[in-house]
Amino acid sequence: MKIAMIGTGYVGLVSGVCFSDFGHAVCCVDRDPAKIEMLEAGRLPIYEPGLEDLLARNVEAGRLSFTTSLTDAVDGADAIFIAVGTPTRRGDGHADLTYVMSAAEEIAKALTGYAVVVTKSTVPVGTNRKVAEVMRAANPEAAFDVASNPEFLREGAAIDDFMRPDRVVVGVETARAGEVMSDIYRPLYLRDFPIMVTDLESAEMIKYAANAFLATKITFINEIAALCERVGADVKNVSKGIGMDGRIGNKFLHAGPGYGGSCFPKDTAALARIGQEHAIPMQIVETVMRVNEGVKTRMIEKLRDLCDDSFNGRTVAVLGVTFKPNTDDMRAAPSLTIVPALVGGGAHVRVVDPEGRREGEALLPGVHWCEDPYEAAKGADLIVLMTEWNEFRALDLRRIATGMATPRMADLRNIYDRDDVIGAGFEAYEAVGR
Ligand code: UDX
Repeated sequence: MKIAMIGTGYVGLVSGVCFSDFGHAVCCVDRDPAKIEMLEAGRLPIYEPGLEDLLARNVEAGRLSFTTSLTDAVDGADAIFIAVGTPTRRGDGHADLTYVMSAAEEIAKALTGYAVVVTKSTVPVGTNRKVAEVMRAANPEAAFDVASNPEFLREGAAIDDFMRPDRVVVGVETARAGEVMSDIYRPLYLRDFPIMVTDLESAEMIKYAANAFLATKITFINEIAALCERVGADVKNVSKGIGMDGRIGNKFLHAGPGYGGSCFPKDTAALARIGQEHAIPMQIVETVMRVNEGVKTRMIEKLRDLCDDSFNGRTVAVLGVTFKPNTDDMRAAPSLTIVPALVGGGAHVRVVDPEGRREGEALLPGVHWCEDPYEAAKGADLIVLMTEWNEFRALDLRRIATGMATPRMADLRNIYDRDDVIGAGFEAYEAVGR
């Protein structure tokens, strides 16, 4: 199979590299020459464990190439994936489809024979039909079918998610397009990973419904956590207890400082908009979005309590600023709300993050970046565990406590045990929902 991948952002790059690893010939396209040069030199514009090695292996095998020319990549391709960005449009919360539609137009003009044009970007219901319309208008002669193939990759675990998916969802209208898509995913199908073939609208809807449901699950447990604190329950036990019910499931029930990242905030906002447009308000999703904002405010209050009601003049060490571990992504990270509240309240903030500094420096003005947690905690009045990077899970707590001015900890990811922390010399320990 010959595949063109339009867009070398997170989704496009991971998908392109993984498809080439299946044995397909993949050509990845990006308008940005600097990005293409970087990729050709074997370097990645993003951080994702394992991706660089996989990229190098497939480039070497001659299956993976990069270009700035969409026309070259589309020439002779069996399938063309659109994996360009769909940011939230300023003002109205809609997904901005400018990049998707301009890619569709260019593809239509570049097509040389029949191809399936597959949307991988997360797009509102109905977009695939619009892609087809735009393509037909741009080139009435073009022979193609459209398909929807949403991705469910988690940052930091993307390769594994691609290679061992819970399911692959494919929305098509014709049997021919279904066959091309099945050929592309045959390596997964043969290893018993289910491929679900459905209509276009259902495929588009599955992506939004899945992300909104997961965001709801997290937000639900965050709200339960707040109540647990008041009634003296431990949310970790509650999560475990409800998660053992197979109907509920034990995943995505970790209480924390609120969900962030590139998908949940964007997709819940887009789904809410779609609902409003069709006069079926997504009331649960709208509430989830509001409650998630409130979770961050609640965290700020928790930290203020630990600082004896004022951040002014306090030194606060923040461990982790990315929205989750194993990524350098800062998009919609809780730290973007919590850290400015600390700085704005007059605290001296000392930050450490294994991968977040490059992006974080511009986004978190007024903080001091440190090399490791021990340096960050030196002289601090409070240490805040914001992102659960593995290297923060087994800190020498005694050493941290000794270096601090007033050893107090806010564990916003519930990774430590109160007795251990207090036993190591901390005078206060606050977690979430316990
Ligand atoms: C998510 C979806 O999981 C993925 O399927 C989709 O395609 C893209 O969006 P991602 O944003 O990379 O992936 O991260 P994920 O691991 O899902 O975490 C999202 C957010 O929820 C993070 O801020 C994380 O800290 C938070 N989270 C997750 C919790 O607070 N508690 C949990 O139990 C799980």
